[in-house]
Amino acid sequence: MRVIACENAHQLGDVASELILDLFVQNPEAACCLPTGSTPIPVYQALVEKIRTSDIKLNELKFFNLDEYVGLGVHHNQSYAYFLFEHLFSQINVDSSQITLLNGLAADLDVECTRYNQLIDAIGNFDFVMDGIGVNGHIAFNEPAEFFIPRTHISAIAPSTIEANKRFFAQDETVPDQALTIGLEDIMKAKRFVLIATGANKKAVIERFFNEPEITTQFPMSFLRMHPNFTMILDKEACGSRYDYFRNHVGEIK
Ligand code: F6R
Repeated sequence: MRVIACENAHQLGDVASELILDLFVQNPEAACCLPTGSTPIPVYQALVEKIRTSDIKLNELKFFNLDEYVGLGVHHNQSYAYFLFEHLFSQINVDSSQITLLNGLAADLDVECTRYNQLIDAIGNFDFVMDGIGVNGHIAFNEPAEFFIPRTHISAIAPSTIEANKRFFAQDETVPDQALTIGLEDIMKAKRFVLIATGANKKAVIERFFNEPEITTQFPMSFLRMHPNFTMILDKEACGSRYDYFRNHVGEIK
């Protein structure tokens, strides 16, 4: 595992976008699975800016989303599809044929999950997956649970996640209580997994990850300990008391 400690969210955006750009150069056909939420916004902002000022070719890249609210379609401004179009796809030169999204409005959600798994199978494993982290340790919408469903599935969103995500919705709107999400199997098989976390409200979950060595479905983030190519990019607030340590140990951290 590698930890990159940044001074602030702006610097995190710069570092993470550089890493993504580098991936695009190394592998112009990369299949990338991308997150929504507040954490990736500075990453997408910096990435869009860098793409605009470079001559990098994007036309063979493939993009997937990690998760989607059940009941929200691409035109709903809180859907994850809408978010990715707003912050990334509409800002760069990619064709709709390069984008594969989970459909939260699918008539049969099980069929939708199967469709998504087949599309993932068709590309092999993801070359790159990035995600933020839930305050309860969820990865994508794999919430703390008795067991995990390995591949794309319908997930019951944890009450604490619903509470945390209320900030994105209007007061008279209800946060969906179900989502479609890729599973831990596809996350663990990704050739590279990058976790980004910013702000003081992520300090406790990052501390828990380092303080509790057990791997448990009750703390989904703990599984990342086993990922063979896992990079964490954190800002100073999310690092908490380990900031100086991470700054001084930029190599592998056990
Ligand atoms: C989003 C996702 C979630 C978020 C997490 C953190 O696609 O999969 O796991 O990464 O809830 O969200 P923010 O960044 O808003 O704190």
